[in-house]
Amino acid sequence: MLQIDILTVLPELLGGTLEYSIVGRARAQHLVEIGVHWLRDYTHDKRRTVDDYAYGPDAGMVLKPEPIFEAVEHLSEIGGAYDEIIYTAPDGELLTQTLATELSLKKRLLILCGHYKGVDQRVRDHLVTREVSIGDYILSGGELAAAVIVDSVVRLVPGALSDATSALSDSFQEGLIAPPAYTRPESFRGWEVPEILRSGNFPAIAKWQHEESLRLTRERRPAMLEAYERRTTSSEQD
Ligand SMILES: C[S@@+](CC[C@H](N)C(=O)[O-])C[C@H]1O[C@@H](n2cnc3c(N)ncnc32)[C@H](O)[C@@H]1O
Repeated sequence: MLQIDILTVLPELLGGTLEYSIVGRARAQHLVEIGVHWLRDYTHDKRRTVDDYAYGPDAGMVLKPEPIFEAVEHLSEIGGAYDEIIYTAPDGELLTQTLATELSLKKRLLILCGHYKGVDQRVRDHLVTREVSIGDYILSGGELAAAVIVDSVVRLVPGALSDATSALSDSFQEGLIAPPAYTRPESFRGWEVPEILRSGNFPAIAKWQHEESLRLTRERRPAMLEAYERRTTSSEQD
């Protein structure tokens, strides 16, 4: 079972996102265990201080190292060592389907959510093993990024998705964008479902879907298509 601990100053922000849909079901089925931990529980002063002024001329607060180290050490002691201690960082490696797949194969992950100006650099240098960004923009805190990471990882845990929503047919999983999807009615406001999808000819449908995936990937992610073509050419030569 995959265990994920999330360390945050704002646990309230995570609540709902981890209770519903695929993540909620995976938790109910004990495929994944998610613990949300409040950083202030690891402070020792009356005001439960987790932040302090940044050194230097810039205004703003920074998360202190002591509660973060104490929390991670305590959680490792009671639950076992983490495979990765991930810091949500706008300048970290970009979350991709490949990274989500890699993380879904781990046993124990900790996600540290930054806040204010971020965390003391010593946390990043001496505690964190991986830094992950969900895109080149700035959020107010790491909680939404943590929720995005958890969702992308948990749906890849074996058993989390039913066959009908198999991850294998999602965009990026095979290095291509997914083909268009249609449902009933066959005709809506004069717009028809492509005839091929209604033909019942499964090999022809698979061929059409693959061609559509190639077309969409060429239009929307040309670099991804080049990588896909390089991979398929080299595997054909092997
Ligand atoms: C206001 S941001 C701090 C930004 C930081 N001063 C900087 O310029 O990189 C507060 C926290 O939100 C989280 N965060 C913001 N944007 C993010 C992103 N794109 N991906 C992941 N985490 C992000 C990080 O944990 C960060 O420490």
